Amino acid sequence: MPSLNSPWTLGGIELPNRVVLAPLAGIGNWFVRLQAKRYGAGFAVSEMVSSFGLKYGDERTHREFLRIHPDEHPMAVQLFGHDAEVMRIAAGMVAEAGASAIDLNYGCPVRKVCKTGAGAALLDDPDKGVAVARAAVEGSGLPVTVKLRSGNRPGERTGLELARRLVDEAGVVGIGLHPRHASQQHKGDPDYALAAELVEKLEVPVVLSGGLRDEERTLEAFERTGAAAVMLARGSLGNPWRFARLLGLREDAPTREEIVAELRWVIDRAEEHLGIERAGRYLRKFYPWYAETLGLTKRDQQPLVTAPTTAQARVALDALAGAESAQIAA
Ligand SMILES: Cc1cc2nc3c(=O)[nH]c(=O)nc-3n(C[C@H](O)[C@H](O)[C@H](O)COP(=O)(O)O)c2cc1C
Repeated sequence: MPSLNSPWTLGGIELPNRVVLAPLAGIGNWFVRLQAKRYGAGFAVSEMVSSFGLKYGDERTHREFLRIHPDEHPMAVQLFGHDAEVMRIAAGMVAEAGASAIDLNYGCPVRKVCKTGAGAALLDDPDKGVAVARAAVEGSGLPVTVKLRSGNRPGERTGLELARRLVDEAGVVGIGLHPRHASQQHKGDPDYALAAELVEKLEVPVVLSGGLRDEERTLEAFERTGAAAVMLARGSLGNPWRFARLLGLREDAPTREEIVAELRWVIDRAEEHLGIERAGRYLRKFYPWYAETLGLTKRDQQPLVTAPTTAQARVALDALAGAESAQIAA
């Protein structure tokens, strides 16, 4: 039985350990992936990127969505889309941008995505699912994985059946399984027995996603399912220390000073990526995650979570850091 620290191979890519950053829309950009890597993650998958957006997009779309930092390899860019020919072209662009692999999204339950025939809608159109994946393989020359759900509705197993075909007919080298049906969105218990069944059936690695909120649950699910690796999603938001703890790189919780320093790093990177003004708006969703890791009361977190600009967020962080020094001095 491998441990989370054991190396493994995904489509010929050597990965140092079995802890992966999950794809997170609107979040998993280059610096969030780089952060996960800094704390030990062996692999990171980008936020989902529209294949149509890449094909028809402007220079800024490419610059922002296909930005890859040299230190975040190995990594995958996740693409979504329902059209094989568009996917072929987008996959080629991802290869050109320097990604190590491509992950395809066949699990997104969001209406806007599914009504175009992409995301989890592909579970109900397996022939198209196979064609889109084959096009990504051919268009990129990269290892291609697919992240999918067990099915769209309760009790369905369309995802498991499609996984088999993706491997046999499209040359997919790994499957990310989120064993909740799409109509559950992200709620309810994932069905780890289904994941164990898929692990048994497929000869390619299965990466487990879903319900991996803390170290204990993650280890238990990894052992119970026999998955090749685990993907941290919501559990890692504002808490990259989870990667380090799962890998035995540290045991203790981060100090307030470490958390404040980490959020300052994030703010700096966001400004570098988006410019000061857009970074201020973009980061508003990040602050509550860090406030939670800081264990702040509702009142104490107000200046940070309501900071309208990055400058004001820095002031709030200075006050938090100052409060800690004052406490230590006392
Ligand atoms: C805010 C948010 C954004 C997500 N974006 C994506 C995405 O772009 N692609 C994808 O395949 N899954 C996406 N997911 C699903 C996660 O990767 C993961 O499968 C899911 O959150 C279950 O894991 P968890 O219960 O440990 O959070 C997203 C989930 C959340 C909460």
